[in-house]
This record gives sequence, structure tokens and C-alpha cells, in this order.
Amino acid sequence: MKLGVNIDHIATIREARKTYEPDPVKGALIAQDAGADQITFHLREDRRHIQDEDVIRLRCTIKRIPLNMEMAPTEEMKNIAIDIKPERVTLVPEKRQEITTEGGLDVSGMEDYLKDFVKELKENGINVALFIDPEEDQIYASIRVGADAVELHTGEYANATSDEKIKKELERLKKAAKYAKEKGLKVFAGHGLTYTNVQPVAAIEEIEELNIGHSIIANSVFMGLDEAVRKMKKLMLEARQEL
Ligand code: PXP
Repeated sequence: MKLGVNIDHIATIREARKTYEPDPVKGALIAQDAGADQITFHLREDRRHIQDEDVIRLRCTIKRIPLNMEMAPTEEMKNIAIDIKPERVTLVPEKRQEITTEGGLDVSGMEDYLKDFVKELKENGINVALFIDPEEDQIYASIRVGADAVELHTGEYANATSDEKIKKELERLKKAAKYAKEKGLKVFAGHGLTYTNVQPVAAIEEIEELNIGHSIIANSVFMGLDEAVRKMKKLMLEARQEL
């Protein structure tokens, strides 16, 4: 069970003042030393947190663990990815007005476009994951467009408030993870995961990696980033009985 630490919100704090601190690249190094298995960042079209310069600095600095670049499937982002060569690209839907990524990519609705898009990234040596809702038709479409992996959107699970809804969303994630793995895809998950809700998702054995940002960065204000990463990783490994 691997942990990808999403460092966007370190840059969100920096951009609130348009200054030079806190530095997301420094955060990536601390996360790496604390046991993160991957550094994840989202270069948004509106550049509200991570900037192009951060991406270049991340590529030059993070060598021990892979970089996972989340991006919208646009020509501009594709060219940046091909230039920077992160180990993985995760394609996400993007809307300008949203606070964070809402819902998964509608792969089945843009298959022809994504087929060529994914192919070009793969020809450039980049693994491609698609961030999708945990639904069978999206998994099927992801296979058809040639993705290496899917990242299952855990937002509905994370936002659920009743026991019944939590159980239902967890079942949906389990079913989708099993199905995707059986079909030969690697399976990751993320969005809205916290220290209190991570363990049931981490326990799903078909899921091999979680990407977590907001909760880790939020808690690092109080306990420091090193401790915040270690604590999350420990919870994940405990849930998986890998400790
Ligand atoms: N995975 C993907 C594809 C995302 O877009 C995000 C949010 O940027 C995350 C994981 C992390 O979500 P959170 O910040 O809620 O942990």
C-alpha cells in the first residue's frame, strides 16, 4: 500500500500572499524523507496553486520517488508533461469555478479524444492513470482508451455522513477496485481522505496506492509535515496489516 502525498496546498498557502514561502518543493523533500512513496501535484489551468516553475524544480529535485502529475487533458498540459516527463500523469476533469476536483473524468464521453491523448503520453514513456468515479462503464472506457491505471474518486465516500451511505460508497469502491484489477488495470484511489476515514479504503486489497493532500497538509500546520506523513502512512499500513 503506497502513499502519494499531494503537495498542492502548500502552494495554495504561498499563493495566498504571492510570496516565496512555504515552498512546495521543500515540502516534497520532507514528505519523501518521511516515507511518501510518490509526490503528486496538480498543475491547474488557472495556476491557482502549483506554478510552472514549481514543476521544473520538482523534476530537478525529486529523484528517489516517482512524480505523479495531475492535469486536465488539454494540449497545453500534454506539452508540459512531455517536456517534464513525470513518471505518471493522472488525467482529471477541471472546471474553473470548482474548489477542488469534483467528480471523475467522463472517459466514456470522450473516448476518441482520450485514445490519442493517452497514446502520445505513453509513447513518451509516461504511465497514464485516469481519475474516474467508481463505475463499471468508466473502467471499461479506461481500458478501451489504453490507460495503465485508474484512480477511483473517493469523494462520495468521504462526503457521506450516514452509516448507510458510507457503507454503500465503500461497497461501490470495493466492487470497482475488484473489477478494474481483474481487467488488468492498476488501481489507485483518492480525494477527501483523512486520518479518520482512510482505513476502510486502505483495507481494500486491490487498491495499491492512495493520493492524499488536503488532510495531510492541514494537519501539518499543527504537527509538522514529517509527522503528518508518517501518521497517515502508519494508518494505511495498519489497515492493510502491513505493519
Ligand atoms: N487524487 C486526485 C486525482 C485529485 O485531484 C486530488 C485533489 O487534488 C487528490 C487525489 C487529493 O485529494 P485531497 O486533497 O482531498 O486529499
